Formats: sequence, C-alpha cells, structure tokens
Amino acid sequence: MNDLDPLVAAASADFAAAPTPAELENAKARFLGKAGRVTELLKGLAALSPDEKKTRGAEINQTKQRIEAALSARRAALAEAELDAQLRAEALDVTLPGRQRGLGGLHPVSRTMERIEAIFGSMGFDVADGPEIETDWMSFTALNNPENHPARSMQDTFYVDMKDEGGRWYNLRPHTSPMQVRYARAHAARYAGVDPMPEIRVIAPGRTYRVDSDATHSPMFHQCEGLWIGENVSFKDLKVVFTEFCRKFFESEDLRLRFRPSFFPFTEPSAEIDIAFASGPLKGQWLEVAGSGQVHPNVVRNFGLDPERYIGFAFGMGPDRLAMLRYGVNDLRLFFENDLRFLRQFN
Ligand code: DAH
Repeated sequence: MNDLDPLVAAASADFAAAPTPAELENAKARFLGKAGRVTELLKGLAALSPDEKKTRGAEINQTKQRIEAALSARRAALAEAELDAQLRAEALDVTLPGRQRGLGGLHPVSRTMERIEAIFGSMGFDVADGPEIETDWMSFTALNNPENHPARSMQDTFYVDMKDEGGRWYNLRPHTSPMQVRYARAHAARYAGVDPMPEIRVIAPGRTYRVDSDATHSPMFHQCEGLWIGENVSFKDLKVVFTEFCRKFFESEDLRLRFRPSFFPFTEPSAEIDIAFASGPLKGQWLEVAGSGQVHPNVVRNFGLDPERYIGFAFGMGPDRLAMLRYGVNDLRLFFENDLRFLRQFN
C-alpha cells in the first residue's frame, strides 16, 4: 500500500469503463503513454536524491506493472466478449428445417405443347421447329395463296420492315403452315434418289402472330402444324390420327369428332375439326379445335414432290385453345399475363 494505489485504482476503473479495444487503447495512453500519468511520475524522479530515487523508482515501477496487468486483463476480457458476440451472431440452429430451393414449373402452354409432342411422337411423328420471321413465299405463296388474292388478308399479318430478294416484306409468321414447306423440302432433298421416299410425318409446334387481341385472341399465340405425306395416305388416316390424338389428349375415349367442310387455299378438300365432350361443363357442345385437309397438289409441288405420286393431309391446331379446354380457362390472355397466382395452379 502506498500513495500510488489510487492511481492503479483509477487506471483499472478507466480500463473497465472502455467498451471497445480502441477506447481501451486511449485509456492506456492516459496512464502509460508519452504524456501519461505514470510517465509524468518517472520524469519527476530527476529532481530526487539518489536514495529517494531508488525507493520512489521501485514504487513507480511496481505501480506501472500493476497498471499493465490491469490493461492485459481488460484486453483479454474484451477479446473474449467480441468472440462470444461473433459466435452468438453466427449461431446455427441445426434443428431448423432446411431452406427450400424455389422450384419453377412449366407454363400451362408448355405443358400442352409437350403433351401434344408426346402423343404425336408415340404415333411416329417427328417434331420440327422453324423461324418466326418468315418470307412471303413460305407464309403464303408456297401454300397456294395466289399473289394479291383476297385470301391473303384472311390473316391480319404483322409485316417486318425488311424485304427478301424478291422485294417482298418479311412477316411474323401468321401460322405454322410454312413449316410444312420447309420440312417437306428438306426431306425431299435429303431422300432425293431414294425410291420410294420415306413418308413425311411431322408436327411443328411454335409461336405465331396476328394483329388480333381480345378474350380469345392474342397478337402472339401458338399453333401446331401437322403433316403426313406418302404414296397412299388418305383422309381416312387423318381421321384416325386426329381422333386418336384428341382422345389421348383429353383422356376421354368417348370424345366425339366432326369434320366440317371448309376452305383453306393449301388443302382440297378442307375441313374444320370440331370436338364434343361426353361429359363435363361443355358436354355435347361442338368446339372447333383445328383446320385440316388433303394437301393441295400445288403445295405438294412446292414441296419439290410429284403430286401425281405423293399425297397426304395436313392440319393446324391451336395449343392455347386446347390448354383452355383441358384446364377450364376462360380467358386466353391469362396465359400471357404471367401472374404467378394463376400459373402456380398448374404445378
Ligand atoms: N394455317 C391455318 C390457320 O392458321 C390452319 C390450318 C388449316 C393448317 C388447315 C393446316 C390445314 O395445315 O390443313 O388458320
């Protein structure tokens, strides 16, 4: 015990009051720094006699050591508190359930497309994909729409500000029918010289565009084209294939089909295909699901094939419409607004 004890007590109290390592270092400077209180005491030794220096010097050194010990203790305490806080912040509750990864789902139209592809795939049809920006020739001329014929305006086509070599505007394809021509020409070229040519059996699903928008029409919509060409393919085959498709698609063996005479430039004869459900809210009502017909000889010629030898049928249907019927959706626009509350119902 000596007159320096209060200084040790003051230093310990200051250190204890420092809440962070930085503030602790400031407190240390006040006692042990260049102008600190212990340093001031040591400077005072110079004025003392040699004997006094000895005893006073020893007292001051002892005081300094006690203050340094108090400082080390506080440093250790602060470091431990910091580690504790960090461990608490990073604490892991291993009993919590794991975080689920957000699983996406297929859009109802994509589901419908896949369903169509699977059913026709099972009947030996290839699946083809093609450009959405088309030439005038592919969209119209090759499909037996005479140039400047009024039938061309049956479809409110979007034109693209770009011309082909013949000086005609490109268009956003108003139907998937150009894929008949693209696929058949590639097939004919591939099997040139092979006699008889293997049959063409293909569907071409994809996006199509028309200037049209209301509860049952959207400027972008989907179609799926179908084509079957061979030496002996008839309207009877179309009926069998399409009936089989509809019954599988709607999972209803007693679904009825009706082929209603119609007109398309690329088929002769042509028919609209209507279906009627045997049960459910639409029971007995005729609903149009596709256009179809025997491919016109002019179109077969544009395939690069001899229409005297090759014959067959084509059809074009609307997957959006099929999805609406299958899921009971009454507004086509719901499919394209992408409201997650609507879309989640299908997953
Ligand atoms: N392309 C027609 C349309 O968009 C649908 C269609 C009708 C396609 C008859 C065909 C067909 O292949 O044979 O309205």
